[in-house]
Amino acid sequence: KLTTSNYLRHVESMAKVPSGAGSIPHLNAVILGESLASEENDLIFPNVEFSGQALVSSPQKYLEMYKRSIEDPAGFWSHIASEFYWKEKWSKEVYYQNLDVREGPVKIEWFKGGVTNICYNCLDRNVEAGLGEKIALYWEGNEPEFDGKLTYNNLLHKVCQLANYLKDVGVKKGDAVVVYLPMLMELPMTMLACARIGAVHSVVFAGFSAESLAQRIVDCKPKVVITCNAVKRGPKVINLKEIVDAALVDSAKEGISVDICLTYENPTAMKRENTTWKEGRDIWWQDVVPRYPTNCDVEWVDAEDPLFLLYTSGSTGKPKGVLHTTGGYMVYTATTFKYAFDYKPSDVYWCTADCGWITGHSYVSYGPLLNGATVIIFEGAPNYPDSGRCWDIVDKYKVSIFYTAPTLVRSLMRDGDGYVSKYSRKSLRVLGSVGEPINPSAWRWFFNVVGDSRCPISDTWWQTETGGFMISPLPGAWPQKPGSATFPFFGVQPVIVDEKGQEIEGECSGYLCVKSSWPGAFRTLYGDHERYETTYFKPFPGYYFSGDGCSRDKDGYHWLTGRVDDVINVSGHRIGTAEVESALVSHPHCAEAAVVGVEHEVKGQGIYAFVTLVEGVDYSEELRRNLILTVRKQIGAFAAPDNIHWAPGLPKTRSGKIMRRILRKIASRQLDELGDTSTLADPSVVDQLIALAGV
Ligand code: WT7
Repeated sequence: KLTTSNYLRHVESMAKVPSGAGSIPHLNAVILGESLASEENDLIFPNVEFSGQALVSSPQKYLEMYKRSIEDPAGFWSHIASEFYWKEKWSKEVYYQNLDVREGPVKIEWFKGGVTNICYNCLDRNVEAGLGEKIALYWEGNEPEFDGKLTYNNLLHKVCQLANYLKDVGVKKGDAVVVYLPMLMELPMTMLACARIGAVHSVVFAGFSAESLAQRIVDCKPKVVITCNAVKRGPKVINLKEIVDAALVDSAKEGISVDICLTYENPTAMKRENTTWKEGRDIWWQDVVPRYPTNCDVEWVDAEDPLFLLYTSGSTGKPKGVLHTTGGYMVYTATTFKYAFDYKPSDVYWCTADCGWITGHSYVSYGPLLNGATVIIFEGAPNYPDSGRCWDIVDKYKVSIFYTAPTLVRSLMRDGDGYVSKYSRKSLRVLGSVGEPINPSAWRWFFNVVGDSRCPISDTWWQTETGGFMISPLPGAWPQKPGSATFPFFGVQPVIVDEKGQEIEGECSGYLCVKSSWPGAFRTLYGDHERYETTYFKPFPGYYFSGDGCSRDKDGYHWLTGRVDDVINVSGHRIGTAEVESALVSHPHCAEAAVVGVEHEVKGQGIYAFVTLVEGVDYSEELRRNLILTVRKQIGAFAAPDNIHWAPGLPKTRSGKIMRRILRKIASRQLDELGDTSTLADPSVVDQLIALAGV
């Protein structure tokens, strides 16, 4: 067993503290090891053997690299970027940035003038390096008896066929393609095919409703929509094609008609004959794509040409189209993947996220494939046929890196250790967590039970907007504290500011911002650069504002404390309270709604809706069900409220602003902490709400 003094000796033996360590104050404590002794109980030390083989083997080594990345970003990142294939090198500047709205429009560019292609770097480059016969993708179906695999050669050929098809039907560089697919190998394949020809993919999570899909189609006006007829999730068949049909009818009403709907037949879920079809528009993938040649010239693009659009929720109703470009995103996802998971060529990597979210873009598809990794794509549900499914998959494929979300950890934890201990899991080496803060008890269960106290946990803090990891442990590099995302990645300068936007040093808590840009940063919100500036760069001028709260302890470790805006995080999915409210009020019987997040044992946060009905309508169980259904229909099942609280009136200030602080307290039944209610236009509303709390 490792003791603190052992660990310190280990650290000392690795390297001397470089001079100038003091210039990065919040890192000093851990780097110098000065306070480790006093915190023994909180710290989980890296295994000496693990550290010995790790890419970053000690705090000193990290500090050395981190310092270089901050002092000379251009040198640091261009050195890494040179490992990729560039048809033409970037201009001398490497990067340009203005993050300060007071100095003019916000603008971020990395490797401008560099000409490359991310699909080429994921596939052709790896094939040329001799990885052609290595497995790129393993596919595990919803039903354990269905699986598949593709080597890097196979994947390249299939991507080329699809790319050729898309070119043939007129998709050109810069055109949008909307993708509504479940976790089949065809999903990353489609993303890569778009990238190959310079088309901009916009993947919509196949759990979104027809209305949400239509909204996204109307916003980005795709040439083609790519989907599949159906998918099975657990025992349930979900008819995706019907959802797409309805979305295409809706978007046509808004004047956006899509000429081609390429549909993959997912035979394990639904036969062709049972699929709804519109002649002339719909076409079976299997009927056309395999006829095309298996090689396809690459469309070389500028580093700053758009790669994809991904819609995410904000604090107003309309989803934001987060735009990522090619070069910086490529370099950043590849590098973060490599270091945060201590990636080795022999690893088998599984991330349970869906490609419909940013995690699936950066860390199912691009990051791992850029590293030539073997990736698992899982179509099913983690508790089907039973709660041991994940560990069954881990043993079946000898998974060594397993990356998931706290909500899944908590739900499996609730089902008991038996499902875990039944399986060997000895292939596991590194664990990862993402989506929300991981509570220390879930962290410990993940570490002790799933990882047999052997595997470091990379708790990666980042966002759709950041493109890749921002604050995350590097496995083996330093001791962990359960529940802390620890320290910034190379090139990232997190700062904690107070309400006035002043940076606070040392032990503190406040708003999490980032100083200076990093290659993976998003460049704009599609079609709305003003909203980009207003949301992210105006709240604290000079900084990127994350929307998260954060504290830093005396050892410099970062602890994320959740969103500070009107966004809630349900099972790691970001949902705007305004979106749910606008869905609720679209019901003819709902006059007004106010939505807040409440603590939820498994989901992290649950959705709690206060609803005022129109005059003359009485609340009923049926109405409650209908309201929930309305939200499912407008956004998707994952956004369905957990609670509906009937509200004859809502607590408002005299100027009509809803006081959510009070609603949050009522929702979590912290009734003795309501605080000052005297500024309300009608304080008696609060008593009414409390009286109705049990209804
Ligand atoms: C928000 C971003 C980026 C991947 C998935 C979600 C929360 C994410 C962590 C973490 C604490 C986290 C934040 C952030 N979040 N990862 N490791 N610790 N909080 O992406 O939908 O863009 O949501 O998720 O609140 O702002 P997203």
